[in-house]
Amino acid sequence: MAKLMHPPQAQSAKSIPIAKPLISDEDKRAVMEVLDSGMLVAGRQVADFEQAFARYLGAREAVATSSGTSALQVALEAAGIGRGDAVVTTPFTFVATGNAILYVGARPVFVDVDPRSYNINPQAVADAVEREHARAILCVHLYGLACDMAALGEIAHRTGALLIEDCAQAHGAQYAGKKVGTFGQAGVFSFYPSKNMTTGEGGMIVTNDPALAERARVLVNVGQRGGAEYLYDAIGYNYRMTNMAGAMGRTQLTHLDSWNKARRDHAARYTAAFASLPWLVPPVEPPGYFHVYNQYTVRVPQGRAQFLNYLSEHRIGRRVYYPHLVPQSPAYQQLGFRGSYPVAERLTAEVVSLPVHPGLSSEDVNRILDVVARFPGARE
Ligand SMILES: Cc1ncc(COP(=O)(O)O)c(C=O)c1O
Repeated sequence: MAKLMHPPQAQSAKSIPIAKPLISDEDKRAVMEVLDSGMLVAGRQVADFEQAFARYLGAREAVATSSGTSALQVALEAAGIGRGDAVVTTPFTFVATGNAILYVGARPVFVDVDPRSYNINPQAVADAVEREHARAILCVHLYGLACDMAALGEIAHRTGALLIEDCAQAHGAQYAGKKVGTFGQAGVFSFYPSKNMTTGEGGMIVTNDPALAERARVLVNVGQRGGAEYLYDAIGYNYRMTNMAGAMGRTQLTHLDSWNKARRDHAARYTAAFASLPWLVPPVEPPGYFHVYNQYTVRVPQGRAQFLNYLSEHRIGRRVYYPHLVPQSPAYQQLGFRGSYPVAERLTAEVVSLPVHPGLSSEDVNRILDVVARFPGARE
């Protein structure tokens, strides 16, 4: 391995962050209006955002929540998943996917992922659903690429398992011309600042099932139905979205398509240039898929640690999503989770996400291309 030098330009160059929310004057005005009104919760802003988001996806209903995590929990509970139910999911995801299954008293059944898409492997899902008599599949459209929804839809149809989509990283992503979040019983989104659009903290459940939407609304609002005052139909939660978040979501949503286009343009430049680098594996966008690149994640099978250091020296933001599998966290180990996931385990040792957010200038992308191409530790 060549010794990594600090070229003079590395110290003087500005740093490029891995993620950066774009906040417009319109967002600020919308939030200020709410603050000035004094109506901080339960206002029209949240309902407006819900309707606009449902319309954007082509879903019947949307229910806003306080976070993607609370949205996952409520979606599972509103779909009727509870104590003892097996839910098949991926180990290569953010921990909230697994946690939400545990919150409702259900049992996550982790299965390995596909080596090209990094999403859950449909054959492994089919085997696990049958073996465990699973009630549901909770698929995750990782990094902004849809799962194989034809295969997962077929498994759900054949076995009767429910299909819930974790779309926290995939606002606007499509499979066969249809937006993710609309394939199964419910889709769940996060509006955390690193996502394709943000409300600070926030989440959304979308569904075509009005009864599921109604149960979700009750659960999010402490178990209270509609106008019923201090009478509760369920042991609910306070998982409501604030009016500030709702107002911001409404204005952010108007930019989502153009931001996704910018992400896709940056990604296309990376992928074209990286084709000539034999030591790096770029992400795929198979035919029929519309990737929205919440992350642009490459694999570096040899020398990842050096590559991470090298990017840092050049002040280029980079992250490993994820260095550990969910069931390998101590909290899961203490609950007795074991199992081996060879493909996902290999990914934890090889993946590196590079900046791809819409705040990047063309010069930023050029600099990233240039720095990556000159990685001295490159191995064939
Ligand atoms: C795949 C996935 N699921 C769930 C979540 C949870 O969302 P939140 O952070 O809004 O609770 C996130 C993001 O943070 C995520 O990336």
